Amino acid sequence: MTSERITILAIESSCDDTSVSILRDGTILSNCTATQEVHKTYGGVIPELASREHDANIIPVVDAALKQSGVLKEDLSAVAVTCGPGLLGSLMVGVSFAKAYALSLDIPLIDVHHMQAHVAAHYIADEKPQFPFLCLTVSGGHTQIVLVEDFLSMTVLGSTLDDAAGEAFDKAGKMMGLPYPAGPEIDRLAARGRPIFSFSKAKVDGLNFSFSGLKTAFRYFLRDEVANDESFIENNLPDICCSLQTNIVETLLGQLSVAAENHDINHIGIAGGVAANSHLRSQLKELASEKSWKVYIPKFSYCTDNAAMIAMVAYLKYPSKAFADQGLKPQARLQW
Ligand code: KG4
Ligand code: ZN
Repeated sequence: MTSERITILAIESSCDDTSVSILRDGTILSNCTATQEVHKTYGGVIPELASREHDANIIPVVDAALKQSGVLKEDLSAVAVTCGPGLLGSLMVGVSFAKAYALSLDIPLIDVHHMQAHVAAHYIADEKPQFPFLCLTVSGGHTQIVLVEDFLSMTVLGSTLDDAAGEAFDKAGKMMGLPYPAGPEIDRLAARGRPIFSFSKAKVDGLNFSFSGLKTAFRYFLRDEVANDESFIENNLPDICCSLQTNIVETLLGQLSVAAENHDINHIGIAGGVAANSHLRSQLKELASEKSWKVYIPKFSYCTDNAAMIAMVAYLKYPSKAFADQGLKPQARLQW
């Protein structure tokens, strides 16, 4: 008799990406994502529009992921879904679909915590981090430092008290007239700039973060400079972007260094969309050689919101039969 193969279909719909992945025995066979362009016009994610787009995208993306993997739906062992945290309407589409799909195939349903999944993106790579490691998860919706002692044994050491790091990039970008999401554009412009403008950094307790003060300081800085020179932004864009990026990256790495020291850990991972930032990556490399850290960064498609990381958590939960039932409800705010 052959041992059971574990084949999982996973769905991620917590924000503005509809993503579906097929995993078999720990290997990702497909990871298909429909990115929503509609929000670009508005300079940020509009929750109601996001829900409608998920609704339109979910069936085609499920079909594409199955087709790309070569797996038949009859061969699935379980359906996994992000149940929170995230936008309630967006989560609702994924959770409702997953419940119906699991029921119709008569297979288990596995609920996955979105933030735990961002950390689990590290387990997809061939070279997995050594435990214990610290993971700095930085995206448009989250900023956390997580202590990871085993695959699913994680403790949040610090989180943002207000805006996320990606949100700080995006909101500051909007003030400068850059398109949403502004993070990649700020990164690109900053490469030609110098960090000549300084903004204050928030003082927060412990290993937490706060970026709303930076947002306000940045708004007043632009207001005052533009009052003196109405072309200030267009004439100084690279320097403004570089100064802003330097401030955010210093804050992130400052707290990460304290966490590493406090917990005596030198295996460090980063995850989330902001992990693509070139300054964050280069500064992290410098810190790594200075402090003898071993650094892990998942492939970019596994850093941004994706269903492969959801599938990975579900695969790790599957043996313990930690299944959800049809009463599963999406939760916008979900503790670990
Ligand atoms: O993980 P993600 O795709 O979605 C969320 O869960 O939010 O992250 C998107 C965020 C956006 O805020 C975007 O501006 C930011 O990641 N981002 C960047 C860069 N690439 C994406 N921020 C700074 N530099 C980048 N290169
Ligand atoms: Zn995310």
